[in-house]
Formats: sequence, C-alpha cells, structure tokens
Amino acid sequence: MSTPGNTESEGEQGTGETLAGALEREHREIDRGIAAFLEGLVADRVEVEPLTRAIEALRRHIYLEEELLFPPLRDAGLMAPVFVMLREHGEIWRTLEQIDAGLGAGPNGAVPRDRAVVGDRALLRDGCLRLLAQLESHNAKEEPVLYPQADAVLASAAAADLSEFLAAGRAPEGWVCSQAGSGRGRCQRAGRADLWRA
Ligand SMILES: [Fe+2]
Repeated sequence: MSTPGNTESEGEQGTGETLAGALEREHREIDRGIAAFLEGLVADRVEVEPLTRAIEALRRHIYLEEELLFPPLRDAGLMAPVFVMLREHGEIWRTLEQIDAGLGAGPNGAVPRDRAVVGDRALLRDGCLRLLAQLESHNAKEEPVLYPQADAVLASAAAADLSEFLAAGRAPEGWVCSQAGSGRGRCQRAGRADLWRA
C-alpha cells in the first residue's frame, strides 16, 4: 500500500468504532430493513417505511463508498477489487430502480408519505429478494478485503471526512452511482480481478 495508514487513531472514530465496523454496521441495518419489509409482505402487511429507509440508506452508503472510500483505496493499489465493487453497485442500483417502480416512487426513490397502497407487490418481492442476494454477495467481498483497508490505508484527513459523513452526511440530490447506466458484462478485468467475479 502506497499511502501511510492512520496510525494516530488506528482508524477509530470518536466512538471507538473503526471505519470498517461502522461500514459493516450499515450493511446489517440495511439488510434488516429489507428483511422486515419482506416479513410484512409474507404476513400480508405492506409497511413501506423499513424498506424506504433501507434503500435511502443504501444509496447514501454507495455514495460514500464511491466518493470517499474507493478513491484512496484505488490510489493505494486496490484497482481491481474497487472496479468489481463499482460494477456491482451498478447492478444493485438497477434493482433499486425496480423497487422504486414497485413502490410507485418518484425520481430517485421519493415515495409519497401518505401513500396507502403500494403499486406492485410481486415486483417489490422479486426486487427485494434480488437485492438481498446481491448485497450478500457484494458484502461478502467488500467486508473482508476492502473495509479493513479503510482503517489501514486512509490518511487522517480522508478518514475524518469519511467519519464525518458516516455520522451525518447526505448524498447530493439526484446523485447516481458511476455505473448506474451500464449494462452487464462491461467489466475490464485486470490482475487478480477474476477472484472477484460475482
Ligand atoms: Fe459497496
């Protein structure tokens, strides 16, 4: 790794939680929100709030990774794994758009608060199941390999920016991930990237 690690705090935030720990916690919270919505559907309850919270948190999470976490990791030599993560973000983003359609959501996931009836339960169920599967595969690569590097590689200023965003940041209105519009199979692999094939 070419960038010196954050030795002063060894990656710990003010709470004592490492960046890796905070990022993994967000993964679990997002998973729980999607699962809670699906459990409601099985019981013939349509409670959109856990789902809309989860997909908003997921878009914000993808934003912080692409804008704050991945650039320094790429600079430190992790080009291939970062590239695969970006490609998978594009796939996840397209699933989020399917879920938006099921919710009858407006641009970038805005759901009317007083919406009493969700548009398409089958579309939502399929989208949520696909999303959980995509996240399971994505997180299983991201957590053991990339996240530990967040604490090892990010310089103090970059780590502070990421911690600050984790605490209270919001993605800019209308932001979309870098491969949101990409089709499948546009990956240009290099080096060890084949190990990361989804
Ligand atoms: Fe990610």
